[in-house]
Amino acid sequence: MAKRNALILGASGLVGGALLRILLNDSTYSEVRAVVRRPLEIRHTKLREHIIDFETLGAHKKIFAVDDVFCCLGTTIKQAGTRENFRRVDFHYPVEAAITAHAAGAQSYYIITAMGSNPRSQIFYNRVKGETEEALSTIPFAALHIFRPSLLLGERIEKRPGERIAAKISSALPFLFSGPLKKYMPIDATVVARAMARAAQSGTRGVFIYESSQIQQMGGGHKQRA
Ligand SMILES: NC(=O)c1ccc[n+]([C@@H]2O[C@H](COP(=O)([O-])OP(=O)(O)OC[C@H]3O[C@@H](n4cnc5c(N)ncnc54)[C@H](OP(=O)(O)O)[C@@H]3O)[C@@H](O)[C@H]2O)c1
Repeated sequence: MAKRNALILGASGLVGGALLRILLNDSTYSEVRAVVRRPLEIRHTKLREHIIDFETLGAHKKIFAVDDVFCCLGTTIKQAGTRENFRRVDFHYPVEAAITAHAAGAQSYYIITAMGSNPRSQIFYNRVKGETEEALSTIPFAALHIFRPSLLLGERIEKRPGERIAAKISSALPFLFSGPLKKYMPIDATVVARAMARAAQSGTRGVFIYESSQIQQMGGGHKQRA
């Protein structure tokens, strides 16, 4: 099989960073492009880092001329400061990137949204994530894979007390997340990244939405060349 090129948005983040390490070690890919707003502290022969102003995403068609695009961008309303800024990062940038990538010939788009994504939700965060999914599904990629994880677990510099408490509860009292509550079980960021990489390796075409328990199954098990 011919070698492929990948592009990651959000490679400096928790899931994006894990995915970057996986794809750099994946022999399916000859080149991995990371589109970031500041330098990554990683050097690798297969890595091409592109530092851009995300407000000008659409002007970078050449960079987006790859086979597979992985979007792990995201912010929080607290970080973004306003709902409008949150929407720039969680709706506008992923959709603009998808339009640009499709126009440049990309075949497949893989994105993390969130559990509860719904364009008609009363909850602003879930509504924006749902609107992003809806907008992406109108772009005729050969494959669109949407990942809706529950709360993410992993080491991050920024303090997110809610995530830390959930991590402690899920490891001390795992039975709380059984039966119908299983879907709320927090999920390791590395598992989400592995699920994205495995979906890409499968080469399946069409539109797919994976809920958190499916992501856990897809990305669980032994570590894959990470
Ligand atoms: N945290 C959770 O529990 C949770 C649960 C479900 C779904 N999700 C979703 O999962 C996805 C990945 O989450 P994560 O925790 O891995 O994210 P993260 O660690 O916060 O990383 C976010 C990425 O987005 C980039 N980014 C943020 N604002 C930007 C801006 N204005 N311009 C350019 N890049 C920007 C960051 O770049 P910098 O490093 O430059 O800031 C970083 O690479 C997100 O869409 C998130 O909403 C998260």
